[in-house]
Amino acid sequence: MKGKAEIVVGAQWGDEGKGRIVDVMARNADAVVRYQGGANAGHTVMTDDEKYIFHLLPSGMLYPGKTCVVGNGVVVDPEQLIKELRDLQEKGKDRARLVISKAAHVVMPYHKAIDTAEEKFRGRGHQIGTTQRGIGPCYVDKVSRIGIRIEDLANPQVLREKLQLNLEIKNLVLSRVYGETPISFDEIYDKALSWGSDLAPYMGDSSLVIHEVLGKGGRVLFEGAQGTLLDVDHGTYPYVTSSHPVSGGACIGAGIGPTRIDKVIGVAKAYCTRVGEGPFPTEETGEAGNTLRERGYEYGATTGRPRRCGWLDMVALRHSIRINDMHGIALTKLDVLQGMKEIKICYAYELNGKEFQHFPTEIATLAKVRPCYKSLRGWEEDIGDCKTFEDLPQVVREYIETIEEIGGVPVIIIGVGPKREQTILRF
Ligand code: GDP
Ligand code: IMO
Ligand code: MG
Repeated sequence: MKGKAEIVVGAQWGDEGKGRIVDVMARNADAVVRYQGGANAGHTVMTDDEKYIFHLLPSGMLYPGKTCVVGNGVVVDPEQLIKELRDLQEKGKDRARLVISKAAHVVMPYHKAIDTAEEKFRGRGHQIGTTQRGIGPCYVDKVSRIGIRIEDLANPQVLREKLQLNLEIKNLVLSRVYGETPISFDEIYDKALSWGSDLAPYMGDSSLVIHEVLGKGGRVLFEGAQGTLLDVDHGTYPYVTSSHPVSGGACIGAGIGPTRIDKVIGVAKAYCTRVGEGPFPTEETGEAGNTLRERGYEYGATTGRPRRCGWLDMVALRHSIRINDMHGIALTKLDVLQGMKEIKICYAYELNGKEFQHFPTEIATLAKVRPCYKSLRGWEEDIGDCKTFEDLPQVVREYIETIEEIGGVPVIIIGVGPKREQTILRF
């Protein structure tokens, strides 16, 4: 029996509302899998009575009987993961079966210290604005083949040897390059052993688990973190994260072949936001941006930083639709636009008097382009209770149809508020 594999991917610069879309789709899924990133992510799920923010655990954890997988492509901060699990247990909400890939890499305290030191070293004008969760340095170690994997936490001898080697290098870097305090072996080793015993019951093989579910005809959801424009290859390099949030990342980060993927859904906000540094062509630094920030409560779910806000950028979104081979868009936060007199959509960029519609790969070009806008009427009606597409006022439907027309793919899910039931499904 052939199951169904569907990827939910961030179509912009992260924080598009992936968590809430995964939560809604997880109702009819058997497994939910995180495939990249780490605790830099903050995925919000609002049930009727409570708000949950998932950093490492998949956003399907609230459903009894589902399988939740932390894939090999994730970089795991064990302290954060154990805390998240404990918080859910205390609320009686750890209802899913959890599997953490033995091959996932471990974010160590020195990764976080180096992340912070590197940002400080780069100084103003060169900073990336990372979440300082140790993500970049951990992926660097993975690729340079000295990283510590989840399976190593359960093997005291291997852990000792790997940690000794790593600390020898990291402490030189921390003290001699960055002038920071070295980190003690004993402190980390004991901590890492205790993480190992806490996590041992969950350690497994993500690819095996996923294929078991698919083999029984089950439905597997792959939950991307960050967004396409933060992808290390396809995003606005170097202002990106160090992993592959794009749909292709799910194949590598979970252990599934590309021909097993049935559907890719890209989550996009009805406008754009970005946290951290880097070009953002449709950014509004004035009143419109402030209104979006306040109405959309655009403050980071992980770091609390105010998010930069601007209009929907269809040039960037088309790039994302192509890179991910997106079947449809989940458009979130449409309700936030209520009360805006004018709503703008960027359909092209302009540079040196020339209009073009492709997303440039060179960061220097992207920093110079000017957005070309199509202006649409706003609306005053509250759409938070709309249940179907037809319930939406005509002017709102026109906004969605314009996105479909420029994007060339259908909008198949619409978010009209942060709660579970404030979701319009069009399939
Ligand atoms: P993620 O990282 O992509 O999962 O997104 P975040 O959780 O970081 O940020 C999305 C924020 O928008 C959260 O506070 C959600 O509760 C909220 N949100 C998601 N969808 C909607 C929506 O349709 N309307 C409104 N008003 N808020 C939404
Ligand atoms: P979710 O999954 C928004 C941004 C950081 C910074 C850049 C690199 O909640 O959408 P990193 O710590 O990854 O090395 O930082 O990426 N960033 C995010 N922005 N949402 C996220 O996750 C992000 N994760 C990282 O702000 O600009
Ligand atoms: Mg987020």
